[in-house]
Amino acid sequence: MRNSSPFSSFFLLLLLLSRKASCDPRCEPIEASDVDRVQFAMNLEFLEAEFFLRSSLGQGLDSIAPYLAQGGPPPVGGAKADLDPITRRIIEEFGYQEVGHLRAIYTRVGGIRRPLLNLSAQNFETIFDQAVGRQLQPPFNPYGNTVNYLLASYVIPYVGLVGYVGTIPFLESYNSKSLVASLLGVESGQDAVLRTLLYERADEKVEPYNMTVAEFTGHLSRLRNELAMCGLKDEGIMVPKELGAENRTTSNVLSADVYSVSYSRTPPEILRIIYDSGSEYKPGGFYPEGGNGRIAQSFLKKD
Ligand SMILES: *[C@@H]1O[C@H](CO)[C@@H](O)[C@H](O)[C@H]1NC(C)=O
Ligand SMILES: *[C@@H]1O[C@H](CO)[C@@H](O)[C@H](O)[C@H]1NC(C)=O
Ligand SMILES: *[C@@H]1O[C@H](CO)[C@@H](O)[C@H](O)[C@H]1NC(C)=O
Repeated sequence: MRNSSPFSSFFLLLLLLSRKASCDPRCEPIEASDVDRVQFAMNLEFLEAEFFLRSSLGQGLDSIAPYLAQGGPPPVGGAKADLDPITRRIIEEFGYQEVGHLRAIYTRVGGIRRPLLNLSAQNFETIFDQAVGRQLQPPFNPYGNTVNYLLASYVIPYVGLVGYVGTIPFLESYNSKSLVASLLGVESGQDAVLRTLLYERADEKVEPYNMTVAEFTGHLSRLRNELAMCGLKDEGIMVPKELGAENRTTSNVLSADVYSVSYSRTPPEILRIIYDSGSEYKPGGFYPEGGNGRIAQSFLKKD
């Protein structure tokens, strides 16, 4: 670095994170067919569909399009959330959109079984405690109010988005590329809406914790970067200017790299995050028994 000012620990961290990403075999692309890659995404689409539908409507995929679950078990937990009317309507729309996404993949490449999903408040509680580095008292309740719910949602579509960005360059067929590009369009729209709703509340304290909405997003993003182990690819809604658009904004409504283009993640990185274990071989988190489809299953067999 040419910069003569003393290294802040922040830059040092960035440097370490980017070094780690560039030469680490854990961050290398994987070999897989188009079908396997597209079906891998269904794991996330199932999670989003069930989470959004159950929290906005009080019922999930089995009441709307049970055939898409292909006999997979119903999720554990998941509850109607106490949302303000506008948020509830937005989340209901997102939920139905995820049904559409599942149907698109099912129709165009064939489906996979719905994996067992853990949508219990306790699972979010564990993730939030991990993110802030201490046990929140009272325990974090994702379903208790709009802000809590938006923070819980912050945990989800972004991971789908970076996964789609990471998938498209490796697809061979026109059909797969056009399908995933179209899924990415809506997924990134959902993430933008959720982040905007959070940004409007950035400075508000998340009651009863002495911590703002922006601080929570920073902690959750840091946790995801740590779990994935491939550098900085996830940023909260407020950042130091060095991470803002053109190094000029502290607002960070969209999480993006120095060129303001989307970060991307490989399937193993995604699994380390959604399993909340930091290992693609060790299921847990939202997927107590792991994901389905050839890619997720290939890691489960090894261990
Ligand atoms: C869901 O997650 C919670 C919190 O980690 C855990 O106590 C519970 O056993 C999990 N449920 C299943 C079915 O794995
Ligand atoms: C809340 O946090 C701020 C710093 O973030 C601190 O100055 C303040 O004393 C804290 N208040 C309580 C009640 O813990
Ligand atoms: C922003 O800062 C980073 C590192 O501090 C640098 O690599 C990048 O070129 C800067 N971007 C602009 C647009 O100046």
